[in-house]
Amino acid sequence: MENVVLICVLMTLLHLLWQVFFRKNKRDSHERAKLPPGSMGWPYIGETLQLYSQDPNVFFATKQRRYGDIFKTHILGCPCVMLASPEAARFVLVTQSHLFKPTYPKSKEKFIGPSALFFHQGDYHFRMRKLVQGPLSPDAIRNLVTDIEVLAVSALESWVGNKVINTFQEMKKISFEVGILAIFGRLESHYRKELKKNYSILEKGYNSFPTKIPGTPYKKALSARKRLSEILSTIIRERKEKRSIEKDLLGCLLNAKDDKGEVLTEGQIADNIIGVLFAAQDTTASVMTWILKYLHDDPKLLEAVKAEQKAIYMSNEEAHHPLTWTQTRNMPITYKVVLESLRMASIISFTFREAVTDVEYKGYLIPKGWKVMPLFRNIHHNPDFFSNPQKFDPSRFETAPKPYTFMPFGSGVHSCPGYDLAKLEMLIMTHHLVTKFSWEVVGSQSGIQYGPFPIPLQGLPARFWRESTS
Ligand code: HEM
Ligand SMILES: *[C@@H]1O[C@H](CO)[C@@H](O)[C@H](O)[C@H]1NC(C)=O
Repeated sequence: MENVVLICVLMTLLHLLWQVFFRKNKRDSHERAKLPPGSMGWPYIGETLQLYSQDPNVFFATKQRRYGDIFKTHILGCPCVMLASPEAARFVLVTQSHLFKPTYPKSKEKFIGPSALFFHQGDYHFRMRKLVQGPLSPDAIRNLVTDIEVLAVSALESWVGNKVINTFQEMKKISFEVGILAIFGRLESHYRKELKKNYSILEKGYNSFPTKIPGTPYKKALSARKRLSEILSTIIRERKEKRSIEKDLLGCLLNAKDDKGEVLTEGQIADNIIGVLFAAQDTTASVMTWILKYLHDDPKLLEAVKAEQKAIYMSNEEAHHPLTWTQTRNMPITYKVVLESLRMASIISFTFREAVTDVEYKGYLIPKGWKVMPLFRNIHHNPDFFSNPQKFDPSRFETAPKPYTFMPFGSGVHSCPGYDLAKLEMLIMTHHLVTKFSWEVVGSQSGIQYGPFPIPLQGLPARFWRESTS
């Protein structure tokens, strides 16, 4: 009996000793890798106040000057490591992307829908991504050129007159319609209207305060989200009845089967459709607004873009023939304006991931559960990669930027699948804008507004008129 007790005691001791040793070893390896430099601000509130009370880019740039390309801070109650070098962005987004999962505020997940691809990683993400990429690929969207043209022209014509237009709000209407086009093809107009109205209510809730009180933007957004699901159900039911097999995004999602032959649920389809609308609308609209501003501010550049587009316009007999896909791929000056606008505006200034395990990078420890933020905007505005970065200069894109220094559409497994569509839309829009219209910006204040993407102050109020054709 005594022997048994002794053995038990010995085993417990051994176990304890082993644990202590193991833990110590583990701690040792942590001690070798230290946390990155930086200040964590006040506990709880951290540095959120600072981030939101000043231009975020000033916040990052100041930190970067003080601490270097990798530094720690506290944002929205979360400890966080910010990364301002191309190598670090590549590490997190591309080569070691499995160590970092996407992370979004809970409210975004609730409103868009938890099955939307950008909340996921691994198999489900891979599968959804393949489905979403197809209908957004150049091969698919080349068939949308004419429809996008019609949208752009009718929008521009509606702006003409002696009225002041909120350019950003108007651009949002276009980018929403282009999103609808990619998702549903030519959707009946009553469905388009219902989707648009309910989506705009949903959108107001994205950044609103969660509450149970009826009548608040939060509650309204929740019921709008429900109605959006209902509308989508009706559209899906109609498609199934017609047995039409379409090549648009909805068609691809409806036809998808996994290796066990399972189809997607209606919830998964709805979440991903709303996710794509969300990803497509404000992003493209803000860049298009910036393009208008940059062209307006540089008359010489505008002349060059005009000359390029007028030549195409004339070869189409003054728009009697629609633009062709090939023409949209051959607008070298305008294309560089688009790229430089993406760099200058860097509307996605940074992104968030979360370390799924302790990660070591360049001798620094990124503890499990910490957020990491690749800072795209800092990289795009670093004079080591883009000389004289505050100058709008499309000619810098005559030579390709160094790898991972230009990431307006992100990089790696979660990079933007909509980038060809977004570029196409911007090129078509610019073609019609500069060949037939003039505009002047109203008010002289120049500045940036965050909502949450950076846009020109007040959405760039402007007046438009048709140019006399001579
Ligand atoms: C100029 C316009 C746009 C910009 C600057 C932009 C930028 C980005 C960026 C930076 C990401 C990666 C975010 C991250 O890594 O956390 C992303 C993801 C995404 N974008 Fe875009 N985007 C634009 C337009 C569009 C359009 C038009 C669509 C669809 C029609 C779209 C659909 C998506 C989707 C679905 C994702 C998530 C991909 C994934 O998680 O695998 N985007 N976008
Ligand atoms: C929202 O969707 C419903 C259908 O579910 C529709 O009847 C309604 O007109 C839409 N618009 C608004 C503003 O609610």
